[in-house]
Amino acid sequence: MTESPQRAGEVVEEFAPAKVNLSLDVLGLRPDGFHELRSVMQTISLGDTLTLWRGKHGGPSENAEDFSLVDRAIQRVVDHVRGPDDVAYALRKRIPFGAGLGGGSSDAVAAMRGTCRLLHLNLGDSDLHEIASSLGSDVPFFLNGGTALVEGRGERVRPMDPLPETWFLLVGHGKPVSTKEVFETFDQSQTGGGLRTKRVLDALHQGRVVLGGNDLEVAAIRAFPEIGHTLATLSECLPADQIAMSGSGGTLMAIFPTGDEAYRVQSVLAARVPWSCVARSIPEKD
Ligand code: C5P
Repeated sequence: MTESPQRAGEVVEEFAPAKVNLSLDVLGLRPDGFHELRSVMQTISLGDTLTLWRGKHGGPSENAEDFSLVDRAIQRVVDHVRGPDDVAYALRKRIPFGAGLGGGSSDAVAAMRGTCRLLHLNLGDSDLHEIASSLGSDVPFFLNGGTALVEGRGERVRPMDPLPETWFLLVGHGKPVSTKEVFETFDQSQTGGGLRTKRVLDALHQGRVVLGGNDLEVAAIRAFPEIGHTLATLSECLPADQIAMSGSGGTLMAIFPTGDEAYRVQSVLAARVPWSCVARSIPEKD
């Protein structure tokens, strides 16, 4: 157990938003074994809360992967500046683990930022980016969040103008999905020809938000058939072009211009799926 924050002086709190992929193109296998990606990513109002304070190092003993990534993020920052090693934290999880919503990666950035604030460290953007890239493919996007074109392994992040406010109904089958397994199941014949992200960018130029689809969907359904069952349920309520999978799955999402519509469809679906949530797009951190 860690010390309670109330007894330990200064406490900092960081919000760690989830992300969705409005599109995901897989452009090929790279020499380093990772896949070359192109995606429009968007942070949303669903998120975890990380609280940090000076105390006996570590987090809760239930050591899920998201927690170990927080540990590693704190340690990398502390090592980078040879700072004190007594950062304790509590992580309030709301983003489901292994759901294609970037929860672990966002927690890692919250841990980096929170550690800097707590220890009064001033790390430059290039140091933050280097540490973020070393922690995982999705992590650099969360340094700014908002709307961004993400390329390469995930490390090349180009900020874009904020989306017109968009609402997402997120639906999950209630079990974690292994990103590694989905990529291993993926085969290059399952792609949309590299045009999914272009479709999203073209629509955004005209002020419209659309989903471009996800090259990993076929592989994710093959590796985790429950995703296919959830997709069938969602497809009974909504047209196919309003639905897509986020990241490597298994969360499926539908987009709506208003929250009212998203909540209305959720009320119809909620009892038929293991997990659902309504969230809206949120802009870049200032
Ligand atoms: O970097 P991260 O830990 O999120 O990736 C998990 C796994 O997903 C990697 O080990 C790799 O097998 C696969 N992956 C990939 N191409 C990417 C990102 C992840 O093949 N761009």
